Amino acid sequence: MAVRKLAPEDMQPDTFVLSPEIEAFADKEIAKYPPGRQASAVIALLGKAQEQAGGWLPRKAIEAVAAKLDMPVIRVMEVATFYTMFNLEPVGKYFIQFCGTTPCVLRGAGDIRKVLETRVGEQNHVSADGTFSWLEVECLGACSNAPMVQINDDYYEDLTTENFEKLLDDLAAGRPVKTGSQIGRNRSEPFEAVNTLQDPTLFDGSLVGAWRKRFDEQAKAAETGENAAAMASIPQEVKAAKPTAGRAIESPVADTPAERAKEGETPINPTDRKEAADPSTATKGKSHTEEGARPAPQSSKSYVASPTKDGEAVPNSPTTPEAGTPPAQAETRRDGSESKPGVTVDKDNMTS
Ligand code: FES
Repeated sequence: MAVRKLAPEDMQPDTFVLSPEIEAFADKEIAKYPPGRQASAVIALLGKAQEQAGGWLPRKAIEAVAAKLDMPVIRVMEVATFYTMFNLEPVGKYFIQFCGTTPCVLRGAGDIRKVLETRVGEQNHVSADGTFSWLEVECLGACSNAPMVQINDDYYEDLTTENFEKLLDDLAAGRPVKTGSQIGRNRSEPFEAVNTLQDPTLFDGSLVGAWRKRFDEQAKAAETGENAAAMASIPQEVKAAKPTAGRAIESPVADTPAERAKEGETPINPTDRKEAADPSTATKGKSHTEEGARPAPQSSKSYVASPTKDGEAVPNSPTTPEAGTPPAQAETRRDGSESKPGVTVDKDNMTS
């Protein structure tokens, strides 16, 4: 997108006064908002000022809108330079916004651009006779009728080199032109043939409640003993659920006790049994008693393994029993009873 700035000083008019019609329009717009909120009418007023100025917003028009709405000029300037619907430089009598986005390009917008460059010249410049100017814009929302352009307030769609050339000729000559599709398409209906939604019953109301009618008829048939015939008319194509759906896939494992029993063998492989009984194949290691007693704790407090700071240990609650103390001899119970106020523990009656 081009940098949006006001037109050069030599293009700017010396004065701009809102017309009486626009003054009246402004008063009506301002009355729509609570007192002090008249700035909400800024976009509507800028649009009208642009119309009055011939399709663009001179600096004086922006200042006139600011004065009417009692706003700082910079605030109105911000709005005018932000929204691309406000032109900041003069435009032709017919201002053409050419869509150069992908769907239009795929449908031949490149050819339309060539016509513009040949007939009008570079974008953002008014033709010598002041009739045309053009600007490439992003998607205008008529992609199904691509390629297309917007000329002033109207869309012209389904363009080809030929019909676009003719359109420009007619506009330049002041002849009436057709807006919308240039190939006779009704809005965005299918391009070549209307072959969908053609069943008249879709539109005459005869299908409304058809499903209920069918169920009523089947219920009635069932009541009159024609149940079998009624049931036969109901589609029976219900797919059976897969029994393994959602379950883990199982495959037989060889040499399990179950498999061995199935084959008429002993559940435990005799070789495995023999190996298990052989002490020479057992894993060897020292018991605690062989290693000797564990060293006694250096403190009556135990410490957590993960300190809050590097190299710093944190004592646990002082009620935590000394490490290695059998539960029966522990000073406190660990079932939480001591943490409840008013509950005392009768150690003499405790059983270990
Ligand atoms: S891409 Fe051209 S109108 Fe959407």
